[in-house]
Amino acid sequence: MLAMNRNKVVLTSFCILATAVIFSACRDKRSTGLEYARNMYDPIAYNPDQANKNFANGQTAQTPPKHTAPVGFVEEDVYPNTKEGYEEAGVKLINSLPLTEQNLLQGQHLFNAFCSPCHGKEGDGQGHLVKLEKINGVPSFHDPEKTSSRGGLMKDLSAGKIYHTIKYGVNMMGSYASQLSPEERWKVVLYVQQLQKAK
Ligand code: HEC
Repeated sequence: MLAMNRNKVVLTSFCILATAVIFSACRDKRSTGLEYARNMYDPIAYNPDQANKNFANGQTAQTPPKHTAPVGFVEEDVYPNTKEGYEEAGVKLINSLPLTEQNLLQGQHLFNAFCSPCHGKEGDGQGHLVKLEKINGVPSFHDPEKTSSRGGLMKDLSAGKIYHTIKYGVNMMGSYASQLSPEERWKVVLYVQQLQKAK
């Protein structure tokens, strides 16, 4: 008899507690409730955007000291995104990568992924976006008569002009600077030069 009562008391208390817990969760809609492992949210190390009294300007993220560069950063000659920059890059920018089978294969792989939707795998300007009429005015790289909108024949575009175009884009074509590293761009240039020779 006594044991029965005790069970009832336990069950009733549990029900009251559970109801209280459930309702307490409804109070504040913005509350995240009970947080498990709080120190996963607030790591011991400083977050870059956190105030920091160890530095004179009170910030954690500091400007790197002058004349330093992040590991792996490749500094390149800067030709501005202007007609003059394009012409100058066209003459002065030289591809330092050798024309090896491996560089060409990687260039082809990157070209197929990033450029062929418009330029076509053969570089004839007939990519699938062109066929779907999503974009027009994509020039062929090897048509003997096709001229660039910036002058000169497409098949005669120099390596530097192709590189400048990949880096900045031109009109309807966007920049590929954030998708392709300088080295990858030069591999693509090698491959585009092969397509320029295609019949
Ligand atoms: C969204 C479609 C599109 C993609 C993707 C694209 N292009 Fe273009 N590209 C164009 C169009 C359109 C033009 C013609 C722009 C103009 O001259 O007005 C062009 C022009 C060019 C030219 C000629 C530039 C000049 O000086 O006349 C080169 C070289 C070129 N693209 C290379 C590439 C390479 C390499 C890639 C990949 C990294 C690429 N394109 C990706 C649409 C594209």
